[in-house]
Amino acid sequence: MRRKLLLGNWKMNKTISEAKAFAKEAKELGKEARAHKIDMGVCVPYLCLESVKKILKSSLIVASQNVHYLEKGAYTGEISIPMLKEINIGYCLLGHSERREYDNETSEKCNLKMKALFANNMIPIYCCGESLETFNEGKTKAFVKEQIVTGLKDISAEDVKKLVIAYEPIWSIGTGKNASKEIAEDICKFIRKVLRELYDTKTANKVRILYGGSVKPENIREYLSQKNVDGALVGGASLDINSYRQLLVNIE
Ligand code: PGA
Repeated sequence: MRRKLLLGNWKMNKTISEAKAFAKEAKELGKEARAHKIDMGVCVPYLCLESVKKILKSSLIVASQNVHYLEKGAYTGEISIPMLKEINIGYCLLGHSERREYDNETSEKCNLKMKALFANNMIPIYCCGESLETFNEGKTKAFVKEQIVTGLKDISAEDVKKLVIAYEPIWSIGTGKNASKEIAEDICKFIRKVLRELYDTKTANKVRILYGGSVKPENIREYLSQKNVDGALVGGASLDINSYRQLLVNIE
């Protein structure tokens, strides 16, 4: 049985003081989530990672939104895995569509980052998903397959079992135009099939696949009731503590 996973993605929102105030309120949610066998967490800006982690400790997952694949060097503005590890960060988002669009994050680069994260016993949350144009052309599956195959190149079955994949159609992110539960299930199921082809059934069945894109307290349950959707990656609706709490309450 795969454990459900509910992750908030703050993107470029919240100052340190705002993040701390949220974390203080969110702390008690960890116990509630565990009681329902749900893992819960937040992907926060670099600057807030340390203070949020200090407050949440292991009650909720605290994930980075990005990382560099090299340990150190002349890469102005970048953050390394050792820097994250020193403050006990164990998870990292990779290949979010906003980073793919604005920061030239390619699946090849995500693959380098994924290898570096696994080598350091960290868990990547690898995002994939197609544009509206690709969706309208009926090419979603070919597009997503390419992102998965490239992103997971030379990743061992042992590591891939720990991986989290988030399917986020770009046309549904922040638009309020969420994909139907049928589309979410169809593509998450397809991703599992690709994993079966790349590895084997046992391995594919271990990977947690999330849906993301305009998930809200009102619609989260319909996604999580799908067989191949193991959780959600939530942007806008995770920023407010009441709405974040309500996401959990509404899954239960
Ligand atoms: P949204 O963002 O929930 O605001 O659509 C989701 C995401 O980008 O992860």
